[in-house]
Amino acid sequence: MASRERPRPRVDPSALGERLEATEALDRLADPALRAVKALLPAGPAKDALHGMWLGHPLHPLLTDLPIGFWTSAFVLDLVGGRKAQPGADALVGIGVASALPTIVSGLADWSELKTAERRTGAVHAVANGAATALYGLSYAARRRGRRGPGIAWAMVGATAATVGGFLGGHLSYRRAAGVNHAADAPADRAWGEATLDGPLAPDRLVLAHLGDEPLAAVRTDAGPAALYERCSHLGGPLHEGALVDGCVRCPWHGSTFRVEDGSIVRGPATAPQPAYELREEDGRTMARRRAPAGG
Ligand code: FES
Repeated sequence: MASRERPRPRVDPSALGERLEATEALDRLADPALRAVKALLPAGPAKDALHGMWLGHPLHPLLTDLPIGFWTSAFVLDLVGGRKAQPGADALVGIGVASALPTIVSGLADWSELKTAERRTGAVHAVANGAATALYGLSYAARRRGRRGPGIAWAMVGATAATVGGFLGGHLSYRRAAGVNHAADAPADRAWGEATLDGPLAPDRLVLAHLGDEPLAAVRTDAGPAALYERCSHLGGPLHEGALVDGCVRCPWHGSTFRVEDGSIVRGPATAPQPAYELREEDGRTMARRRAPAGG
């Protein structure tokens, strides 16, 4: 008996992110916002710290747990806590607003490095979460004035906005892989193998090479030939098209800079180090193997 196909749901929430990414009109919001964010948060150590370079992965998703946790706890106390829980609920709303501020700043730092399409979804994500923060701020102010009903109402609307913002943040992370390590697919195998090069190794230019299926960006350094995995850990930019700066490779897409000798990060927005490779030349062949990860 032929199986019946299930009817597709009329509302497909998973398509929302894709629709936003295709909406060029959002650039009217995103482009000036991008200029403002880049002016306020120029590339440098402070922005790298906001990206989470010191942490080894993005800081923003970790910080989002704070306002979400405080506001969700307040929501439960508002619903079932009774009169005794009112001061606690009010404090949780206020602490959530305070914790949302660094969360927003770290999110803006990451947002400013996204590609155009993802930046559109990210702009709506930011507006929704900014609105949630403002609504919870109104809730806190109302509660402080003893206006409990409006205070709870503002919080409920804020929770709705935060849910929309959280859904779009999930789309960016899990559908668009924003913030994940794009060099994580480099094999961990550390055996020597013969590499093929698209050109001769030279001290002043990067050359695309392959170790089996692994693409590498190779160069001759003062200490000998070496290479980094070709796909930048930030968003997969082609490192062999990047620039060589003081023994480092700078990604052509957003400027993440990695030491050739060990792949460690000198400048973000990347938060994960780049897989690094030893190269040696013997009998006219170039042999390569992955270096042990820094610190491990
Ligand atoms: S892809 Fe963004 S810095 Fe390399």
